[in-house]
Amino acid sequence: MRIGVPKEIKNHEYRVGLTPESVAEIVLHGHEALVESGAGAGIGAEDADYERAGAAIVADAAEVFARADMIVKVKEPQAAERAMLRPGQILYTYLHLAPDPDQTRDLVASGAVCIAYETVTDAHGGLPLLKPMSQVAGRMSVQAGAHCLEKAQGGRGVLLGGVPGVMPGRVAVIGGGVVGFNAAQMAVGLGADVTILDRSPAVLERLAVHFEASAKTRFSSRANLEERVTQADLVVGAVLVPGAAAPKLVSREMLSGMKKGAVLVDVAIDQGGCFETSRATTHADPTYVVEDVVHYCVANMPGAVARTSTYALNNVTLPHALAIADRGWQGALGADAHLRAGLNVWDGKVTHAAVARDLGYDHTPAETAVAA
Ligand SMILES: NC(=O)c1ccc[n+]([C@@H]2O[C@H](COP(=O)([O-])OP(=O)(O)OC[C@H]3O[C@@H](n4cnc5c(N)ncnc54)[C@H](O)[C@@H]3O)[C@@H](O)[C@H]2O)c1
Repeated sequence: MRIGVPKEIKNHEYRVGLTPESVAEIVLHGHEALVESGAGAGIGAEDADYERAGAAIVADAAEVFARADMIVKVKEPQAAERAMLRPGQILYTYLHLAPDPDQTRDLVASGAVCIAYETVTDAHGGLPLLKPMSQVAGRMSVQAGAHCLEKAQGGRGVLLGGVPGVMPGRVAVIGGGVVGFNAAQMAVGLGADVTILDRSPAVLERLAVHFEASAKTRFSSRANLEERVTQADLVVGAVLVPGAAAPKLVSREMLSGMKKGAVLVDVAIDQGGCFETSRATTHADPTYVVEDVVHYCVANMPGAVARTSTYALNNVTLPHALAIADRGWQGALGADAHLRAGLNVWDGKVTHAAVARDLGYDHTPAETAVAA
């Protein structure tokens, strides 16, 4: 199969669909790789690195789209990219179609086979192709929060780890899933005084077993939240209620009880945020202050560490890309129900139930596509 990697064109997107190492694997499996010149620049991968891995470098995206059987990307295709898709061509990338009727219409019109990273499942009920980005954002949240706590950033001038003879900073992590677990790991590693709040007894138990005495766990009741938030130097918002907007767990009123210069990092901002006073920010201007509390609400945190994020993403996307290339998309999706859950659009039809429901399309089961 001929696999194409265009340069990402969405604003401030520095990641790339395949690393040179992934290209080498694809070539090892007997496939061809076509990489747009400069596609890896954002992660420090030069054209020469891709050539050494066995790729052919092409001048522009038009050639990648015209010649490749499968396009591997990171972000959803932009309008100019959608216009280059053709019937039967495979598109393998993040799509997030439910809130995006324009993109869905164009993908349906293209006749392409569109497999979305975010709806591929695993045997434990998780979303394994989303997980690495949550790991990155969770780990980054503490790094970003520690920076915001410095005086020059408007913070209260607290070093999270303290020093011998001085108390460490207090960190409250709300939500103990993938983001929260990774945030807590970083905060514990820095030597901070860490409490994780969650509503799920199973999650609290897992965290307690893992962290033992190095982090505290609390049930996320209103009273416990208020107590932890008002005492914290850094609060990380990491809740998720699948398919719903994030619950507003920290009210504007609660902020007035917080310490001056405390920091809120709202990782859940991509689902609307879990603090009442959150609004999405960008890496170019990541923070603002409300009631003397610094807010960091960057919706695309992994973008800042494009190299780490690209490698983390490739670790989980490459095995499926290889399966699709080796067996054809129908063979690979037919053999793997979890990968089949990734099929969102095929031959002008919507094959993902939630996308069809939310956008008013008829739903064609992915099984029908695989058997066609
Ligand atoms: N900003 C970014 O760049 C970025 C990057 C990756 C993920 N995210 C977002 O971070 C959020 C968390 O993702 P995740 O992968 O950790 O999800 P997850 O499902 O692994 O964890 C969410 C946790 O929230 C808990 N929760 C739900 N309601 C709660 C409440 N009222 N109080 C306390 N805990 C509660 C759940 O029990 C669960 O343990 C999501 O909204 C995700 O989209 C943002």
